[in-house]
Amino acid sequence: MWNAGYVSEVDYIYGYFSELAPVRLKFALLSRGIFHDVGDCPNYLELGFGQGVSLNINAATSSGYFFGTDFNPSQSVYASQVARASGKPVRIYDDSFEEFARREDLPQFDVIALHGIWSWVSGEARDAIVEIVRTKLKPGGILYVSYNCKPGWAPIEPLRHLLSLHAEKAATGGLLARVEDSLHFAQRLVDTNTGYFAQYPTIGNMVQGIGKLDRNYVSHEYFNRHWLPESFSEVSARLAEAKMDFAASANLIDNMPGLGVPSHCQELLAGISDPALYETTRDYLVNSQFRRDIYVKGKRQMTVAEIADRLEEYSFLTLADLKELPLSLSTPAGSATLREEIYRPVWKALLEAKGAVISFSALADTVAKNGVTRGQLAEALFVLTGRGDIAPASQSATADQDIAASQALNHELCRRSRYTAGANNLAAPRIGAAVSVTRVQQLVLLALWDGEKEIEATVWGWLSAQGERLVSDGKTLDTAEENINEIGKIRKEVSTRLMPLLQRLGAAPE
Ligand SMILES: C[S@@+](CC[C@H](N)C(=O)[O-])C[C@H]1O[C@@H](n2cnc3c(N)ncnc32)[C@H](O)[C@@H]1O
Repeated sequence: MWNAGYVSEVDYIYGYFSELAPVRLKFALLSRGIFHDVGDCPNYLELGFGQGVSLNINAATSSGYFFGTDFNPSQSVYASQVARASGKPVRIYDDSFEEFARREDLPQFDVIALHGIWSWVSGEARDAIVEIVRTKLKPGGILYVSYNCKPGWAPIEPLRHLLSLHAEKAATGGLLARVEDSLHFAQRLVDTNTGYFAQYPTIGNMVQGIGKLDRNYVSHEYFNRHWLPESFSEVSARLAEAKMDFAASANLIDNMPGLGVPSHCQELLAGISDPALYETTRDYLVNSQFRRDIYVKGKRQMTVAEIADRLEEYSFLTLADLKELPLSLSTPAGSATLREEIYRPVWKALLEAKGAVISFSALADTVAKNGVTRGQLAEALFVLTGRGDIAPASQSATADQDIAASQALNHELCRRSRYTAGANNLAAPRIGAAVSVTRVQQLVLLALWDGEKEIEATVWGWLSAQGERLVSDGKTLDTAEENINEIGKIRKEVSTRLMPLLQRLGAAPE
């Protein structure tokens, strides 16, 4: 069977992950001062792209040649159809990783990215991934890999084992019905408050938490034949076989000295020189469940002068609509307070750009008047990007083409949301990434772009044709009038806040 035990009966969700964007990968490496050799027009490969939302948004918003493979043909077909809208060069395959590794018609890749794959595939598929990285990623190339890790998953592993055993041996019906049945079984076990369930009270919360998640996601996350959380040291040893060195976390805040680990643990960690022991120990100190790691083929640390020169190549755009910047920051290591004397002037300088792109050097000149150094500014920009308040501007070599491609892609994503919920992101070419939107916002945008006269009534017509109703304050709205009123409020918010943001980011026509 082509799916090799991987869930294929139920399609995967339409996720977008900004960590995979070329501009973000390079920025994350710079935050740790690690060199890469990826130019303006990279060959980019995504392994296991799911519905291909990240792949298509990356292709539309960045220069380069984009490739992807996912062995689920229904997902590949969706991704290919959406790709045609942008007109960008995207080559989509429905090969398994094993088949893809054997291909001889591929270029050398500058970037290989895989999100939500490593822990959920067979040992043979992992071997094929390592082989693809070994043979098809060029020296100086970047690898992004995310996975479930230890020790965060350690207490949950027995729960997941029992859930999938129950689904296989006792539950009946299609996969979604079996998932439901097995979650119900788990809840009855939690209610006994005995043995494992009494020893680990968090398991009850976990079962409840899973019960609230999208069932397509739950099927893929917990009911696959393969599910293997591993330690950083185990994954990095496997990737070393492909000559890969760990370089940085794609979570920028983790890369900041002082923010990635609780303060009372810093001295202990500072005494560890082996990188695998360091990262693995850090995972224990913050009880990591999931890692988003960036590796490079041939690691080279930049000098301070090189880092300073690279920073000068960056510009930024604000995303958050805040006069006052919140100074509290939640991190995997707990919560932290940002230094007011640095962050207030940095935020003020960013706001002075009035939503336009502002360069690192212009920001540095402004904040120097408040005694903020270039190093402190850089750290603040990494943190604010990590929190989503700002974004580095695109460094694409095809900026004009990206705007046309992204707007065409966005129209297609909005058009598809008439029929299916889920692909709730729009390509934002000026930041080489995406902004998230709701389905109703997408439909309002579609009605506006298509020049519909009665926006609210048109959107309501699309939703009601699918048997959908809006929800306001937790209450489902029943009548047409209530729904149209609610759509009217959303339309207002689209016109006053969302549309100007999308236009500023090149995601919507002026
Ligand atoms: C958990 S999903 C992640 C999808 C996507 N990267 C995301 O995060 O939205 C895993 C994906 O890998 C694909 N996949 C699993 N095993 C594979 C294999 N051996 N070869 C190719 N694709 C595979 C599945 O079809 C599925 O779309």
